[in-house]
Amino acid sequence: MCGIVGYTGSDTAKDVLISGLKRLEYRGYDSAGVALERAAGPGGGATCLDIVRRVGKVAGLESELAHRDDASTCGIGHTRWATHGRPTTANAHPHTSCDGRIAVVHNGIIENFAELRAELESRGHRFASETDTEVFAHLIEEAYDGRPDAGVPATGDLMAAVRAACTRVVGAYGLAAVCADEPGVIAVARKDSPIVVGRGERGSYVASDVIALIDATRDVVVLEDGQFARLTPEGIEFSDEQGRPIEPDVTHIDWDIDLAEKGGYPDFMLKEICEQPRVVRDTLVGRLSPTGELDIDELGLSFEELDLIDRVYVIACGTSYHAGLIAKNLIEAWARIPCEVEAASEFRYRNPIITPSTLVVAVSQSGETADTLAAIRDARIKGAKVFGITNVVGSPVARESDGVIYTKANKEIAVASTKSFIGQIVSLTLLALLLGQVKGKLTVGQVRMLFRELGDTAAQIQWILDTQREAVHEAALACKDAPSALFVGRGMGAAISYEGALKLKEVSYLHAEAYAAGEMKHGPIALIDPGFPVIAVATDSPVYDKVVSNLKECEARGANIIALATEGDEDIRRIADHVIYIPPVRDAFCAITASVPLQLLAREVAVMRGCDVDQPRNLAKSVTVE
Ligand code: M6R
Repeated sequence: MCGIVGYTGSDTAKDVLISGLKRLEYRGYDSAGVALERAAGPGGGATCLDIVRRVGKVAGLESELAHRDDASTCGIGHTRWATHGRPTTANAHPHTSCDGRIAVVHNGIIENFAELRAELESRGHRFASETDTEVFAHLIEEAYDGRPDAGVPATGDLMAAVRAACTRVVGAYGLAAVCADEPGVIAVARKDSPIVVGRGERGSYVASDVIALIDATRDVVVLEDGQFARLTPEGIEFSDEQGRPIEPDVTHIDWDIDLAEKGGYPDFMLKEICEQPRVVRDTLVGRLSPTGELDIDELGLSFEELDLIDRVYVIACGTSYHAGLIAKNLIEAWARIPCEVEAASEFRYRNPIITPSTLVVAVSQSGETADTLAAIRDARIKGAKVFGITNVVGSPVARESDGVIYTKANKEIAVASTKSFIGQIVSLTLLALLLGQVKGKLTVGQVRMLFRELGDTAAQIQWILDTQREAVHEAALACKDAPSALFVGRGMGAAISYEGALKLKEVSYLHAEAYAAGEMKHGPIALIDPGFPVIAVATDSPVYDKVVSNLKECEARGANIIALATEGDEDIRRIADHVIYIPPVRDAFCAITASVPLQLLAREVAVMRGCDVDQPRNLAKSVTVE
């Protein structure tokens, strides 16, 4: 949700900023902008800030900057996903102080912005946007220049002014600020919104995601809440809320920059779908001890503590919530304890029954989803143990949980989650196996066998990718012009259907709904008229015959049936117009394989409909607002 980048050094700042913003664009793409320092000309005069902003993607900003000179070597940039205020040029970042000497870019949300804005306006500040961010620019201006009438002393120092402004703000921020009076300086602050800084051979860098600065350095500092950084071309100074110097930990980034490139694929979504066999394998590496028992280092909870667990809540949003629906089936089957799955946005405002023996499992690809974080905090206050499943090392979800399993999806760029979803299911499957093992419901032999079969899904996904693309293409042709589509399944198949429908609607804008197939006759069947696409998860399972019966009801009404079936099932062709196969797999692991053709289907329909599959409209990769 929004991306920040900043650079001060000896290179052309606009080039560094644009290249960083392009890497961050997946986080938001309503508008983009930069603030570049313009040095005093030969005729003298003060340094000033050149603000360039454009509605739309970074490419528009890049074209605009192509006409500008290359002299600036310090600047900040931002790509936005609109929260406060529409996606207009006026609302695009950077935002400036009244006199234009101070510019800021900000991720997060300022909860008390209405009060702060009213207060600042009452002292004569003029606001140029509807954003919450702009209060930061005016607060920093006051702290820099001083406002004796309001009891604000002058700091005359950008870093100190940023620190002072932060004391007034309630909410979350990753912030970078520049001031025309301090050429070459970027002041950075962080609270509940990621910020990384790093030193390269040609200067100092800041970004909201390491992906934007990995070309310059692999040794970065992930700022903690309440930490500040002052970047200059010569180096970076770190300080705490009181301004005392600190020595933060340095993190070495060992993943490859290829992850941020399409690598010959037409889009990131397809590339990431095709990486899923690797995700399964990597997520399982080192999880089985030589004695055949599951071993999860980062667990954070002892086996004794796990044995006491008598209820599990999985809390998550969107696709991660669907991973939770799959986990419920596994946890209840293998550990024999009740498991509820709840949207984090609902959970946080309910009064769920939580005791010290409740385990809350928070699932979040980004590790920074606001609703999920709020639900974690609430659950911990109520005494639950919280376990995080996330793809981002050191993310807020990881830090605020008692224990964590990291999915090994690696960076996911396409906004629609695909490989991170598969990583989540594999991780949740490990957790379910572990609970079954600890509670004595699964023997070591059973765990070992299930673990081996879980690993086999990597090759099964590869088989789907290698052999079913044509079948998916045919199915996509059957859907692309439909006004709507229905996804159905039972048991695991129902959970898979929910994710299939979400994927289709978010990338292709084709309306889709998912239903437990047995529920169709209670209403949704009224939607079906001749040619209406019904996508059914009809894989080999204990409820296969029931699903087929439900499909007959659709067939009788002329539905265009696309069945996801198990290889070898020729009977399904009697009722299905199109069949996509998955290899035979235990029902418990079917979600890992059967989700893949549905991801491919969503992408294929989106491509046919001319949609931007990697950056669907109105969405952002991480949702850090409520
Ligand atoms: O980062 P998270 O897993 O917490 O994100 C949750 C949802 O915002 C996310 O899954 C969303 O639904 C995606 N657009 C799905 O493709």
